[in-house]
Amino acid sequence: MRSVPRRRPALSGLLLALFMVLAMALPAFSGHSAPAKDKSAILVVAFGTSVPEARKSFDDMDAAVREAFPGMPVQWAFTSNIIREKLAAEGRVTDSVPVALAKLLDAGVTRLAVQSLHAIPGEEFHEKLVHVVTNFDGFKKVAIGQPLMSTDADMAAVADTLLATFGPQRAEGEALVFMGHGTHHPANIYYPGLQWYLEQRDPLALVGTVEGTPGLEWVVAKLKEKGAAKALLVPLMSVAGDHARNDMAGDEDDSWKSVLAGEGIAARPVLQGLAELAPFRALWLNHLRQAVAGLDEN
Ligand code: CO
Repeated sequence: MRSVPRRRPALSGLLLALFMVLAMALPAFSGHSAPAKDKSAILVVAFGTSVPEARKSFDDMDAAVREAFPGMPVQWAFTSNIIREKLAAEGRVTDSVPVALAKLLDAGVTRLAVQSLHAIPGEEFHEKLVHVVTNFDGFKKVAIGQPLMSTDADMAAVADTLLATFGPQRAEGEALVFMGHGTHHPANIYYPGLQWYLEQRDPLALVGTVEGTPGLEWVVAKLKEKGAAKALLVPLMSVAGDHARNDMAGDEDDSWKSVLAGEGIAARPVLQGLAELAPFRALWLNHLRQAVAGLDEN
C-alpha cells in the first residue's frame, strides 16, 4: 500500500486494497495467467575437450544420465573458454554455464540439477560453476551435484574403484600411477589426500599431478624407492584429452611415459577418461541423484 498516494480519497485506497487482496487470493482473475507448471532439467558441466577421440567420455556420460533420469531434459556446458573457442572455430558450438542457464530458463525450466564432471572442487568448479549458478536469478530451485572427489566417503569410493578397475589390468609387480590435473587452488589437497587412501589399500598405487602437488619427480622417486620397473599410467580425469595424450602418454622427452622410460621404468599408458568407465560414471551419478532429490525440497 506504500505506493498509494496520500492525497487519494480514503475510499478508493480501500477499494484498491480490497482488489489487491482478491487478486492475490485468486490469481486466475488477476489478469495474469496461472503460475506455470514446474519443469525440471539437468545441466552437466565439464571442463571440456577439443580432442575428438576424448569426446567418448561425454557421450557415454550423456547416455548414462539420460538412462538414470528418463524424461528429464539433459543439457551440457563447458567451463573452458579456450576449449569452447576452439570447438566453435570447428563449427561445434558449445554453451558456457551462463548461456546454458539462460537457455534453460528461457525453455521454462524451473528446477535445475547441475552436475559437475570435474575431478575435484577446484577453481573450475567454484568459479565457473558454483559462483555462476548461485548468482543466476530466475529458477525456483537449483541443486548442485559435487565433483568426483568431494567428501571423505567419496575418497574411499574413488580409491576402491580405481583399484578394482585398474588392478586386474596390471602385470606382476606393475605399479599403478594415476595422473591428476593439479591446481594452485587449495583443493589441490585432494590429490595427496587420495594418495593416503590408496596407500591403505595398495602400496604400489601412486598419484601425481601435471600442475600441482605431488609432481612427477615425487612419483619417480617413489617408484624407484619401491623398486618398480613397470607402471600402468592412468589419467585421473573425466576425459583422456590433451593432458592424457600429450603430457602423460606423448612421445616428447618431457611426457610422463618418456621421463619414466629414462628412469628405467616401462610405462603403459591407458587412454581412457574415467567417465568412459561405468564404475566412475556411477560415482558421478550418485552425486547427481542427490542433487535431483534436492530439487523436491522447497
Ligand atoms: Co590443464
